[in-house]
Amino acid sequence: MSTTLELQPEKMEAFAGRFLEAMNGAAMMLMSSIGHRTGLFDVMAEMPAASSLEIAEAAGLNERYVREWLNALVAAKVIEFDRLQQAYRLPPEHAALLTRDATPNNLASVAQWIAVLGYVETEIVDKFSHGGGVCYHEYHRFHDVMADESAQTTVSALLDHILPLADGLLERLEQGIDVLDIGCGSAQALILLAERFPRSRFFGYDLCADAIVAGRFRAEEKDLPNLTLKVRDASELIERDRFDLITAFDAIHDQAYPDKVLRNISNALRRDGLFLMQDIHASSYVEKNIDKPLGAFIYTISCMHCMSVSLSQGGMGLGAAWGEELAQEMLIAAGFAQVDVRRLEHDIINNYYLARLG
Ligand SMILES: C[S@@+](CC[C@H](N)C(=O)[O-])C[C@H]1O[C@@H](n2cnc3c(N)ncnc32)[C@H](O)[C@@H]1O
Repeated sequence: MSTTLELQPEKMEAFAGRFLEAMNGAAMMLMSSIGHRTGLFDVMAEMPAASSLEIAEAAGLNERYVREWLNALVAAKVIEFDRLQQAYRLPPEHAALLTRDATPNNLASVAQWIAVLGYVETEIVDKFSHGGGVCYHEYHRFHDVMADESAQTTVSALLDHILPLADGLLERLEQGIDVLDIGCGSAQALILLAERFPRSRFFGYDLCADAIVAGRFRAEEKDLPNLTLKVRDASELIERDRFDLITAFDAIHDQAYPDKVLRNISNALRRDGLFLMQDIHASSYVEKNIDKPLGAFIYTISCMHCMSVSLSQGGMGLGAAWGEELAQEMLIAAGFAQVDVRRLEHDIINNYYLARLG
């Protein structure tokens, strides 16, 4: 027996409009990513209205490509165009959100994720049929873009907003404590901390050798005897009662074995220690994420990266939207007695969990 569904034409029309708008939005993200990587936004922010040739020369780039990029962003209403002068201008209100000087509000840096995810689309499509996941090394520029994001969301807010979430933590860092950052990536947060708190000892572990190499390269310039970076798998930590502070910035939800890693963290902490976990602000229930400002983006980056890298290791595939409810449950199951969940005004995408053993 078949049923004929009555289609509502207005609903179809509204959806078509929204879809086409999103198509232009996606185009704007790709062009914005290119504007960031080529430095075009930074160059234009310093220039008055100018021709495509002047802009290309100032940026040291090919004029034909620059003109097509400019026109795409004129159509997207990111760049303004004066028809009489044939001149392009990045308005200062837009430059304030698109340049390196705009950090931590540089939206063009965030736009890079769309291209990073697009790079593995064919592999992800294959996994829909065959299961499994895409490994970290199959992504192009993942650690570079992550380092850019870390500079924006974590490093810029670390001393003034993130660490002060825990009473007395800055003072303990001044006095000298042992700190471990799990999934430290290219270690930007640790480098800042090791510089700022010379009496404390900092350790960063990451699964990916290329992230650790990039971190060591950054650290070398600073000469930091209190910083050690190692390629290590957090699911195989054996330390007990060893650290006063363990941090994980955006590094638990994409673990292969997050339950094991959380248990290892609680074992490695001293009794009065603190686990500070920055992880995605989401609910474990999809219906509660519909109105989150970046809900679709979070599930997309999860499907095309966070969940997939976990599955590629035979892992749990928790996903970026594992959510506050499950996160609290898993922290308690791992041995934490007390979990406070906090938010910070600058960071629309993360929760900050302060977990203690007693
Ligand atoms: C989303 S990135 C965050 C990197 C860094 N914390 C930051 O904020 O820039 C997650 C990191 O966790 C690392 N990672 C994933 N599983 C790991 C494991 N089992 N042990 C150590 N590091 C791991 C990845 O290699 C990656 O660098």
